[in-house]
Amino acid sequence: MKLSGRVAVITGAARGIGRACAERFASDGATVVVSDVDEEEGEACAESIRQSGGAATFAACDVAQKLDVRNLVTSTVDQHGSIDICVSNAGIVHGAEFLDLKEADFDRVLNVNLKGTFMLGQAAARRMVEQVQAGGKPGSIINMSSVNAVFAIPNQVPYTISKGGVNQLTKVMALSLAPHGIRVNAIGPGSIMTDILQAVASDQAAMDKIMSRTPLGRIGDPSEVASVAAFLASDDASYITGQTIYPDGGRLPLNYTVPIQT
Ligand SMILES: NC(=O)c1ccc[n+]([C@@H]2O[C@H](COP(=O)([O-])OP(=O)(O)OC[C@H]3O[C@@H](n4cnc5c(N)ncnc54)[C@H](O)[C@@H]3O)[C@@H](O)[C@H]2O)c1
Repeated sequence: MKLSGRVAVITGAARGIGRACAERFASDGATVVVSDVDEEEGEACAESIRQSGGAATFAACDVAQKLDVRNLVTSTVDQHGSIDICVSNAGIVHGAEFLDLKEADFDRVLNVNLKGTFMLGQAAARRMVEQVQAGGKPGSIINMSSVNAVFAIPNQVPYTISKGGVNQLTKVMALSLAPHGIRVNAIGPGSIMTDILQAVASDQAAMDKIMSRTPLGRIGDPSEVASVAAFLASDDASYITGQTIYPDGGRLPLNYTVPIQT
């Protein structure tokens, strides 16, 4: 199996895209540390992976808290011996018009989506560098971005900014860690059917809007993001670093003059 013998940490893995990554990595042979602020759902995810024959443990971590992040890295190494794959997936949104946005909400979203990705990326990378210096195999870091790193939504100010930052963070991390052979890439999903989108799924007008910007004509499944993560984590992507790959059903290439059949 492609990820046999590797230890993978995934944040925000209790549900949605993070959970799909955890399940996919485990089925590809990795030992998975399912991490989340939601202890109940996170434990349940790790248990379900074990029930299916995979290797998984749960570790509580709020990625916005430096101490939590350090503990996540330390406990992973103590328990499993290394960190070979790190997926910074935890992310939150806050909807507010630009003129009304409160500083505290701006900070909250940036702290989770961007600073959390930086803090975990740095802590995991430091460990990965030590592993390389000890003769180990270089690791792979994956940051969860969004098509909104490129597009802008006026009532999703901190989210849009945070994901733009994640793309640039991915590039600087990739260049900084390339001398150690450690690869860093991002994934920028389009509309994926997780809890956030389920809420919109019953609103036909909202769904029509989404579909009018989705050439493949359907919402993506979390497993279709997980398969990109599994590829980037594996040796199949051994010459790819500093990139963002967009599983978005064709949204980014779409010119505004092109009508979509719905
Ligand atoms: N679903 C989509 O359409 C979509 C599109 C583009 C990008 N993304 C990105 O993919 C990632 C996952 O999205 P999702 O749709 O699966 O979301 P989700 O809300 O279904 O799951 C997010 C998980 O992150 C956890 N979390 C929240 N704050 C945390 C924190 N501070 N520390 C640790 N865990 C925390 C939550 O408890 C939850 O389990 C996010 O970064 C999101 O921005 C999602």
